[in-house]
Amino acid sequence: MIYMADQKRAMVQHEAEHTSRMASIGRLAAGVAHEINNPLAAINEKAGFIRDLLTFKERYKEDEKLLKLADSVISSVDRCSYITKRLLSFARHINMSMQTVNLKNIISEVLEFLHKEAEYKSIIVSVDISEDIPEFESDRGKLQQLFLNLINNAFAAMSGGGYMDIAVARNGDEHVSVMIKDDGCGIPREDQTRVVAHGASHGGKRS
Ligand SMILES: Nc1ncnc2c1ncn2[C@@H]1O[C@H](COP(=O)(O)OP(=O)(O)OP(=O)(O)O)[C@@H](O)[C@H]1O
Ligand SMILES: [Mg+2]
Repeated sequence: MIYMADQKRAMVQHEAEHTSRMASIGRLAAGVAHEINNPLAAINEKAGFIRDLLTFKERYKEDEKLLKLADSVISSVDRCSYITKRLLSFARHINMSMQTVNLKNIISEVLEFLHKEAEYKSIIVSVDISEDIPEFESDRGKLQQLFLNLINNAFAAMSGGGYMDIAVARNGDEHVSVMIKDDGCGIPREDQTRVVAHGASHGGKRS
């Protein structure tokens, strides 16, 4: 009995060590990828500039060799960016801690945390979460962070108070859709694609 308990403890400890080792590898990978991205962007920009010079300046026009060299620098940079992107996405996966989550609880907790601020800012929050949302596997902390960010942004956009609606509905068998809508200042149309490009989206200005 004692032997089994010992074995179990050793196993749990081993697992914990493995998890923390993977987390530090993940942080390291993310840090390296991030640091490399800046000089890569600089190389890319300058190689592009050299390429343009070679293409448009009369005296280089005939020199195919130089143009090929510039192209090969640019395609190597592309390859490096692909690698750093994969490294970042790998790090994100390692740093995930998956558990069974209940979306309604997560959103309620985030709102509980913000309700004083809503009151102070005269923001009326309404929440409509469909009853048929199943629990699913995800990273609870990251989801909280995500909602906190989106709601904070909405609050920041409603400096004079207003309405914020949150609606969560089931979207077919595999998807859940979350809508966060505020009647604040809105995001100019030309900036909206950039918001989606960063992986976040939310309902726009209510008309
Ligand atoms: N609901 C919203 N309504 C209007 N503008 C928004 C909304 N959400 C985001 N934005 C605009 O997008 C910008 C970027 O948002 P993001 O959350 O990335 O950064 P931030 O809010 O400026 O800073 P941080 O979240 O780091 O404190 C905001 O500064 C704001 O101009
Ligand atoms: Mg923000």
